[in-house]
Amino acid sequence: MGSGAALSLKDPQGLYLDWETAHWAAQDIDLAGDPADWAALDDGERQLLQFALSSLMVAEERISTQFCGLVLAQDDEEEGSYLATQLVDEVRHMQFYARFQNEVIADPAAIAAHVERARTVLSDPFRRIFDEALVEAHERLRLDPSDREAKVGFVTIYHMVIEGTLGLVTSHFLLGLLRERGLLPGFADGYGRIAADEQRHIAYGTWFLREAVAEEPALAQVVRDRLIELLPAVAESLSPPGDVAFEALGIDQGALSEFGLNALNRRLAIIGVSLQD
Ligand SMILES: [Fe+2]
Ligand SMILES: [Fe+2]
Repeated sequence: MGSGAALSLKDPQGLYLDWETAHWAAQDIDLAGDPADWAALDDGERQLLQFALSSLMVAEERISTQFCGLVLAQDDEEEGSYLATQLVDEVRHMQFYARFQNEVIADPAAIAAHVERARTVLSDPFRRIFDEALVEAHERLRLDPSDREAKVGFVTIYHMVIEGTLGLVTSHFLLGLLRERGLLPGFADGYGRIAADEQRHIAYGTWFLREAVAEEPALAQVVRDRLIELLPAVAESLSPPGDVAFEALGIDQGALSEFGLNALNRRLAIIGVSLQD
């Protein structure tokens, strides 16, 4: 086990209490300045941001609809309290992206219509993560919430791969870019609040996996297998499909992967799992 074993992590009750003092509302974010910014982007930039926003719209729809199984799998009331807050957070994120679509990108429509349109620009690796791996892991857990391997597998995919790697890399670079250029201030405000919510979610996943592996060391293999299986798709889904490249926005593709892998490895050291074993 790594030196992280001694590190103190907030437990679900602590994360629940943090949530109580960290409220915000998707409808309160001021988007008034964003339509003019959106219209002023050049075509290449707009295409890249459209790809990123489409990924976020679909990802939040997926992760808010593929979550209830984990609430059912709670081990006690404190964990259940925290997990209920995460479900509400994910719904708020989906609502914020849908509101941005309604008011800045497209005409007002139902969330399903925004998701369907957003899906047309997404790539196969994105679908492998969100439509296959996540859905299968959720279904397994929903059918038997007492299955430890299923819970560990689901949290690995959801909290480590999707939130702790893919989501974290995207928000780090995209928020950095928007803030540096003063672009889409309303979107950057909402996305910054979303990223703060995500820190709590990732903290829960790290806490849960550390406890689960400490209790039953054989579960480390489940964490490792899921990561090894999905990391190639994560790396691929960070590249926009077709001939657009993030370099057009001044973002270096190598730095993206490196940042994601470093963040993941830091967390794995805390959990006590090595990718190499
Ligand atoms: Fe989210
Ligand atoms: Fe989340």
